[in-house]
Amino acid sequence: MPANYQTLADEVTQLANSAHSAEHLMTMIVERLQDLLPHYNWVGFYMVEEGDGAEPMLVLGPYVGAETPHKRISLHQGICGAAVSSAQTVVVDDVNSDPRYLACSIETKSEIVAPIFVNGKVVGELDIDSRLPAAFTEDDRQLVEHCASLVGRFLETNV
Ligand code: SME
Repeated sequence: MPANYQTLADEVTQLANSAHSAEHLMTMIVERLQDLLPHYNWVGFYMVEEGDGAEPMLVLGPYVGAETPHKRISLHQGICGAAVSSAQTVVVDDVNSDPRYLACSIETKSEIVAPIFVNGKVVGELDIDSRLPAAFTEDDRQLVEHCASLVGRFLETNV
């Protein structure tokens, strides 16, 4: 990881120690990532909501960036749904050539979504959009997965 990414990863680890709720931690993470990384243009969390007998849905949590029409997403829809269904990080270099893509802003060119695990189960995800094509490298993947895992660990130990 480049030095600035390692510093940011360490800083986010510290945020997890000072957060007073998962919502607070997620809010601090989205703000910090967008502040420090200019290619992170929309940064937000979606959490899985298990309805009473209803289909589980991804529900928008803390985010920074343009308002999105996708506040609730089925687990079978979008790149967001794909990350949850596959329980894997999804990186899309060119969203316009991916038929799964649900558009938030016409300026978005690439996207990364990393699942959040609690005791091995996907409970949500961290979604980042960039106006640059193929913006997300292996370093971004590691950083985004680190942030997602901190939220998972926080939920495991604080609920
Ligand atoms: N692009 C996502 C939807 C979320 S918005 O980008 C904020 C998707 O394809 O699932």
